[in-house]
Amino acid sequence: MEAIILAGGFGTRLRPFTFTRAKSLLPILNEPMISHLVKTLPKKVDTVILAVNYRREQIEEYFRTHDFGKTIIVNEEPEPLGTGGAVKFAEKYITGSFFVLNADIICSLNLTEMLRFHEKKKAVATISLWPVENVSEFGVVDIKKDGTITKFVEKPKAEDAPSDLINAGAYLLEQPVLEYIEPGKLVSMEKQIFPQIIQNTGRFFGFKFQGHWIDVGRISSYISVHVHLLEAQRKKYVIGEQCEILGPLTHSCAGNRVRIGKNTTVESSVLFDGVTVGENVSLDHCVIGEKVEIGEGSNLKNVAVGDNETIDKNTTHDNAIVWNQPIPQGYPNKQIGNVIGE
Ligand code: GDD
Ligand code: MG
Repeated sequence: MEAIILAGGFGTRLRPFTFTRAKSLLPILNEPMISHLVKTLPKKVDTVILAVNYRREQIEEYFRTHDFGKTIIVNEEPEPLGTGGAVKFAEKYITGSFFVLNADIICSLNLTEMLRFHEKKKAVATISLWPVENVSEFGVVDIKKDGTITKFVEKPKAEDAPSDLINAGAYLLEQPVLEYIEPGKLVSMEKQIFPQIIQNTGRFFGFKFQGHWIDVGRISSYISVHVHLLEAQRKKYVIGEQCEILGPLTHSCAGNRVRIGKNTTVESSVLFDGVTVGENVSLDHCVIGEKVEIGEGSNLKNVAVGDNETIDKNTTHDNAIVWNQPIPQGYPNKQIGNVIGE
């Protein structure tokens, strides 16, 4: 059985970190986001198709050097084809029912249970569902008691949302679903394909689950996923190898070779590999990119500092993105993936 992981797109809401890396390689507790996801795949899934484009070579390199006991196919779109186009582009590898997974979700969904549900319902498509308060950034469904989805609206205005149940970003699809997608075109699964499956088959189901679900789509949620996982593991912090940490770290994570000076406090922050922070610094809700140097006496709150940047001593920043290097050519200034036609 195959699983397609949608790991393309630019991750524009996670810049400046996605200026230099694929979104799915962003570390979560010092392990790429995509690795957390691959580990949740059922045994039955023996082939993983990585639907990639931007920074494909980094993803390829990661899987070349890390073994997950599954066949990994790196399927690069010549240019981003959207969430539906990317699935169609993987068609030649599909042999039956298959999973499609958004790469930017950390959750407790049990895919084996979802598969059982899908088979029992004889569904054409099953999608995972999660309740949220503010639905407007997500795909929202209308669902009947038996789990049949009767409506799917992508990113509706709050007043147009049919419920508080959103598309949690994992799908189980039957092969004929691929017939709905035109090849070689920019197609949104959510906007263009799901509504058609609902209308034509009436066998589109929703699978609710318990536990946790975090969309790692933006910097604030990237921090909250760390805080949540640390709390769940009852840890104050996680640090990598060869670190020298002289100040307190709370709800925070530091990669390898991180140095933190005396009297420096780090709260709800994520520090990538090779970061150096001077003495008497305060970091609160910050994400600090690789090899960043932060001078002594600085005070950063809600700040994202891109790889290889330097913060002068005694700098104060509140709610800022620090990036002084060129933006990679072709990097868009807004989200494109599944928001086609806006
Ligand atoms: N290969 C490929 N090609 N992957 C893509 C492309 C593309 O052109 N565009 C986006 N992706 C990947 C992203 O990397 C991500 O893993 C997934 O497809 C979904 O795209 P996002 O851009 O993150 O969409 P979103 O977060 O606005 O909304 C989606 O996720 C929500 C849950 O987090 C939708 O599926 C919503 O319906 C859903 O509620
Ligand atoms: Mg997303």
